Amino acid sequence: MSESLPFYLPQGNECALFELAWRHRLPLLLKGPTGCGKTRFVAHMAARLGRSLFTVSCHDDLTAADLTGRYLLKGGDTVWTDGPLTSAVRSGGVCYLDEVVEARKDVTVVLHPLTDDRRILPLERTGEMLAAPPEFMLVASYNPGYQNVLKQLKPSTRQRFMAIEFDFPAPDLERRVVAEESGLEEGKVQALILLAQRLRALKGHDLEEGVSTRLLVYCATLMQAGLAVRDAVQVTMVEPLSDDPEVKAGLEEVVKAIFG
Ligand SMILES: Nc1ncnc2c1ncn2[C@@H]1O[C@H](COP(=O)(O)OP(=O)(O)O)[C@@H](O)[C@H]1O
Ligand SMILES: [Mg+2]
Repeated sequence: MSESLPFYLPQGNECALFELAWRHRLPLLLKGPTGCGKTRFVAHMAARLGRSLFTVSCHDDLTAADLTGRYLLKGGDTVWTDGPLTSAVRSGGVCYLDEVVEARKDVTVVLHPLTDDRRILPLERTGEMLAAPPEFMLVASYNPGYQNVLKQLKPSTRQRFMAIEFDFPAPDLERRVVAEESGLEEGKVQALILLAQRLRALKGHDLEEGVSTRLLVYCATLMQAGLAVRDAVQVTMVEPLSDDPEVKAGLEEVVKAIFG
């Protein structure tokens, strides 16, 4: 396997599921909280399958042309320039739409002919009708925790995807992930994992989201660089989670109980 394979520690059978989806040309939806490993997983699998990865971070100003492409002025001429979705289709790559619920519904409709058995991308502007090669795959992710009525995928969109639910890795796995990513020894990571468990238990009462694996990696990285553990915890596992003084005091109580 190539040296550039991004590190990913599986939580379950997701690697096999991804590969099956790719082989059978099924679009894939990844659901799970922020910072739990979805993007890393897609980067790992695309590299493993030898496909180029085209990532789009979705937001509510994203237009269909941002995905498919547009005519741009180049030295007096107008030249058609493929968007990331079109590039992925043309090259048989993986197109990854991160936070797809942020995209407007009229934008997600562009995906429809690509995500059923037609597997085509009509480009109105150029008059092309691109047929996706077998190697092309569409992957999308979102965080069901932020769901509100305005931000939901249309059933007609979501029912075109096979879906896998993600969560933060189990403690043993998360310890290995954080140690591997930061270089901090597992013995020192262990206390951070315990703290994360306790902070995540507060979710719902005071916190919208539990502390992410990403923040644990930040914390361990700062510790590995020599920052004192209490300072590292404050700036990665307390401040990013809340602005509310009472909520922060609650988090700090939990920190004190573990680190004194
Ligand atoms: N299973 C895993 N294997 C390797 N790294 C992981 C794993 N889960 C989380 N990470 C780490 O957490 C960070 C955040 O993960 P990311 O994939 O960006 O989250 P998401 O896309 O779910 O918001 C990654 O950069 C990586 O350091
Ligand atoms: Mg992501």
